[in-house]
Amino acid sequence: MIVYFNGEFLPEEEVRISPNDRGFMFADGVYEVVRSYEGHLFRLDEHLVRLKRSLEALRIESPELASISLICRELVDRNRMARLEALIYLQITRGAYRRVHSFPPPDVRPTVYAQVSELHPAEEEATVGIEVILVGDTRWSRCDIKSLALLPNVLAAEEARERGAREALFVRDGMVIEGSRSNFAGVRSGTLVTPPETNYMLSGISRGVVIELCGGLGIPVEQRPIPQRELLRFDELLLIGTSAEVLPIISVEGREVGNGQVGPTAKLLKRAFREAVEEARRR
Ligand code: PDD
Repeated sequence: MIVYFNGEFLPEEEVRISPNDRGFMFADGVYEVVRSYEGHLFRLDEHLVRLKRSLEALRIESPELASISLICRELVDRNRMARLEALIYLQITRGAYRRVHSFPPPDVRPTVYAQVSELHPAEEEATVGIEVILVGDTRWSRCDIKSLALLPNVLAAEEARERGAREALFVRDGMVIEGSRSNFAGVRSGTLVTPPETNYMLSGISRGVVIELCGGLGIPVEQRPIPQRELLRFDELLLIGTSAEVLPIISVEGREVGNGQVGPTAKLLKRAFREAVEEARRR
């Protein structure tokens, strides 16, 4: 596997990251995950804008976005993934410096790392639907930043796995916010309802795509807080994200959503999502 590390493409085994890297010491950095559909980097510009925003929020100097876009393309090519589906993981930390909490001097350069891995979409999940659990949201109040500090997300995902579910949805003050690595939406009487963008939620690129698709399909969209007690009143629930695209949720905490089957809106949006990818590839 060839990865990118601070200006070079090299075999993964040859990467040497300092134990003093602030990503390792403090989770002092940000990341992005971009999907490559047979070499087409879907919504790359939007991922880069979000990356820049995350970096600015943490006051980490941003590399040229054009160079990041080249890195992503080159990684796909060098690893011969241009005919496959893949996920590109990109991480930027504040760099390596002896352990002090405050920022290091300005001559300390950010660490830039990127890797690509093949993605095997679980088609079965889309046709059968998935189960989710609910967990308390113990995260900080800047979940809009795609920060490396993902411990609550890790614990939530593990709890889901241990309880036989695909994802955990975070609940804060009685409101369902998002998943450990995805956004979510409900469908009620033909309207798509999804929590609004706040500092407590990551503004998902795929969520944006789904909202756009609803516009084209004539599906009304309501962005409003969703109380936990309302969850099972939805006809359908959907998980939305870069690797999930659109996945139907058929049970929450073991209780059926709607009739417990994959609903029509999930199917429609899944198909529309794939069409949007195809259209973007042709452009
Ligand atoms: N996760 N919410 C959270 C907390 C996320 O971590 C993600 C993405 C999303 C969906 O965002 P997008 O549609 O832009 O992928 C929502 C990435 C893929 C990850 O952590 O691997």
